[in-house]
Amino acid sequence: MAKPSYSTPLGMVDILPDQTPSWRALEQIIHEEAAKFNFQEIRTPILEPTKLIKRGIGQLTDIVTKEIFAFQKGDTNYTLRPELTAPVVRSFVQHHLDQRGGVQKLYYIGPMFRAERPQKGRQRQFHQFGLEVIGSADSVADIETIAFMMRIYQRIGIKNFTLKLNSIGDLESRERYKQVLRDDLEPHRSKLSELSQQRLEKNPMRILDSKEPEDQEYIAKAPKIQDYLNEDSTIHFEKVKHGLQVLDIPFEVDTYLVRGMDYYTRTAFELSSPDLGSQDALAGGGRYDLLVEEIGGKPTPAVGFAAGMERLLIACEELNISLSEKSVLDIYIVSLGEEARNWALSFLPELRSHGLSASMDYTGRSMKAQMKEANREHTRFTIIAGENELNNRAFILRDMNKSVEVNLSAKEIISTVLAHKSRPK
Ligand code: HAM
Repeated sequence: MAKPSYSTPLGMVDILPDQTPSWRALEQIIHEEAAKFNFQEIRTPILEPTKLIKRGIGQLTDIVTKEIFAFQKGDTNYTLRPELTAPVVRSFVQHHLDQRGGVQKLYYIGPMFRAERPQKGRQRQFHQFGLEVIGSADSVADIETIAFMMRIYQRIGIKNFTLKLNSIGDLESRERYKQVLRDDLEPHRSKLSELSQQRLEKNPMRILDSKEPEDQEYIAKAPKIQDYLNEDSTIHFEKVKHGLQVLDIPFEVDTYLVRGMDYYTRTAFELSSPDLGSQDALAGGGRYDLLVEEIGGKPTPAVGFAAGMERLLIACEELNISLSEKSVLDIYIVSLGEEARNWALSFLPELRSHGLSASMDYTGRSMKAQMKEANREHTRFTIIAGENELNNRAFILRDMNKSVEVNLSAKEIISTVLAHKSRPK
């Protein structure tokens, strides 16, 4: 086949009709579980002013320095949203959502954009579902956030994963630890990778995340954040761990887990799957107690997570989990001749008003071609309507599974198909 002249932008994909049922089934699961947790959905624009993204995620993060799709329009520079924590916090502050009272438990589903090098499980437009719990510093919020995340994978049947957990401390603990880390690594500066050397001053904790071989020896010997947490952060971390144990959610403490955005404080976590290959992070999140204030709101603690939907669907494929059943068309009307076609067209709305799915030939093809289409559409029943049937007001209803035909009036057809549908499977 000749290469088409136009195709999707690099790292972006079309979700085709054969794939949309799985997406819808996944979205349905997320909505249902969110309702059970009493979370409410929030939808924000695809674009945000670049200054919000920079402020929210951090000027020096990989996302902001390398991965944002940004453009100028008039006086404003916009960015296609690379994640939703900063936009949801912006919305919380802008609309004074705190005035609704209580803790805001907001979830979302939607596309995000990051100009990364595309590979399996890494796209430039990808989808996340996620949750932001704004207004609670209590470990219950962290535990429920993680429990919701785990519940989605549990319900789908993805069981093979690791939950890594860390506390990167509050501001005070972190500033202290950063200095200790800098002092520890500074003597080895010249031996560190170029990237880690750049991070040493402003963002030394990101060095712990480095995959560069030359850094590993120094990372292994470096002081651990756990030894520098103040009492508040330590107690909070203990409570989160205890809560997860009570809920039977297995986790591993990973002192090197620092995450890629600057807004995190205290709890940080990541869920990874061995079924995913090199892009193995299914989901990640943590606490961000300073972000609301950073974006102009009152000091308000918060915690959340986001999960990659493409990665979840890749894991389903690897594990042979199918999220949706093949959809079945209840009725296909095969019609022969102009009059029968007109009758078919007018009978469709009646069938649909009874909750049945119904379709007919759109192109005036032969009976054989129409029957072929009925088969291709996995139709449960076919109505055959020609001149004779129309004159007698008795149509042929064919049960496609049993290959049995009966002559029925339009009314009888509806009651027969409805009775069939309501029978337990
Ligand atoms: P994140 O770790 O950057 O966190 O992204 C969360 C998840 O999105 C990842 O674990 C991964 O599954 C998926 N993901 C990220 N980038 C890509 C990509 N290029 N292609 C496919 N999937 C991708 C956040 O976004 C934070 N906002 C999470 C959060 C919410 N923290 C607190 N609240």
